[in-house]
Amino acid sequence: MEVIITADPQSASRQAALYFKSLLRRKKNAILGLATGGTPVLLYQELIRLHRAGELDFSQSSTFNLDEYMGLGPEHPASYRRFMQDHFFASIQLPAANIHIPDGLAADVPAHAAAYEKAIVDAGGIDLQLLGVGSDGHIGFNEPSSSLASRTRIKTLSERTRSDNAHFFAAGEEVPYHVITMGIGTILDAREIVLLAFGDKKADAVAALVEGPVSAMVPASALQLHPSVRVIIDEAAAGKLQRTEYYRHVFDFKPAWQKQG
Ligand code: PGA
Repeated sequence: MEVIITADPQSASRQAALYFKSLLRRKKNAILGLATGGTPVLLYQELIRLHRAGELDFSQSSTFNLDEYMGLGPEHPASYRRFMQDHFFASIQLPAANIHIPDGLAADVPAHAAAYEKAIVDAGGIDLQLLGVGSDGHIGFNEPSSSLASRTRIKTLSERTRSDNAHFFAAGEEVPYHVITMGIGTILDAREIVLLAFGDKKADAVAALVEGPVSAMVPASALQLHPSVRVIIDEAAAGKLQRTEYYRHVFDFKPAWQKQG
């Protein structure tokens, strides 16, 4: 696991964008695993900027999002389908057929979840998975106590996550109780993983995922089992790590080619 501590979310997002750029240079038809929430917004802005500057071409890539709220259709302002459209897809030239997001309105959830897993495999597997982390240590919507081997399925949100995400919903509107999410096993199948976390609200989760024991109580700690994970965080999110000097040292003494991913 590589821990990259940056001055602020803007620098972290620029650093994360380098890994997307490097992948898309190597593989034009890369399979991207994408995330929603407050955290990746600046990264999407940076990727859009690079696309407009002619430095990034998404036209042959495909995307798979981590999760979606059950009961929310694509037009719902808080649905992740809508989030992705507004924050990213509307601004890049990615064919609609290449976009995959779990369907919050699926009638047969287990069948839909199995089909989602199969679509990832049929596409060749995810090359680069983007992640945020919940203040409770979740990745995707895999809440604490999720099986570390879980696959795409229905999950019930914790009250903490429902309250963390309430600001994405209109006043008085209930945050759904259920979601459909890639499992931890699904996420660990990605070839490369980039996790972003910003702010002191994430400091405990970051410390637990990087330095704590691997435990279903901190789903993000399962990333310690993956061979290629970059955790890119700002100073505030790094606030509770023990070995920050070492992480900075590792990054500062890297050969330039390795910094580019
Ligand atoms: P956030 O969510 O980016 O809105 O903080 C992160 C997550 O829940 O994974």
